[in-house]
Amino acid sequence: MKSFSKKTFSESVFKIGTDLIELDRFNNFDFNGRLAANIFTMRELRDCGKKQNKAASLAARFAAKEAVQKCLNKNLRYNLIEIVNEKKGQPKVNLLDPLMKNRYKIQVSLSHNKTMAQAFCLAINLDSRGLNTK
Ligand SMILES: CC(C)(COP(=O)(O)OP(=O)(O)OC[C@H]1O[C@@H](n2cnc3c(N)ncnc32)[C@H](O)[C@@H]1OP(=O)(O)O)[C@@H](O)C(=O)NCCC(=O)NCCS
Repeated sequence: MKSFSKKTFSESVFKIGTDLIELDRFNNFDFNGRLAANIFTMRELRDCGKKQNKAASLAARFAAKEAVQKCLNKNLRYNLIEIVNEKKGQPKVNLLDPLMKNRYKIQVSLSHNKTMAQAFCLAINLDSRGLNTK
């Protein structure tokens, strides 16, 4: 089995992040306001506007953005972390920061109930072990 050097560990190939948030922060959310534009991308606002429970999907995306920030240990602007749904509903992260987007492979998982939303994030640092072939 290949051994990992201290350097490899200090560079943290795998990082995790999580966040939990109350849905009521997004009740009566103004989709056209400045806050909306600062937090969400146009695509996220359009997608969440079509969801049955808009507050839940907005809150889950907000939680995902915070979970991604924890993974990357960086306060990226919220609207540079875009969460979209793939065909079968799986959430996918589009990092819109040109410096960060090729450095990490990121996966998120979202969940929400009547009162809370949570997100879990796993990031792989592609630069830290020669994993980045780009
Ligand atoms: C995905 C699934 C587990 C959701 O469970 P749930 O308890 O109703 O809902 P949760 O609150 O825990 O999760 C909702 C979030 O799960 C995510 N999700 C939806 N479908 C998903 C899937 N196939 N895989 C992973 N995550 C999924 C979404 O991000 C969703 O939130 P959003 O709509 O705001 O983006 C459920 O729909 C399921 O069991 N699906 C079967 C698996 C599958 O692949 N289905 C494909 C159908 S074509």
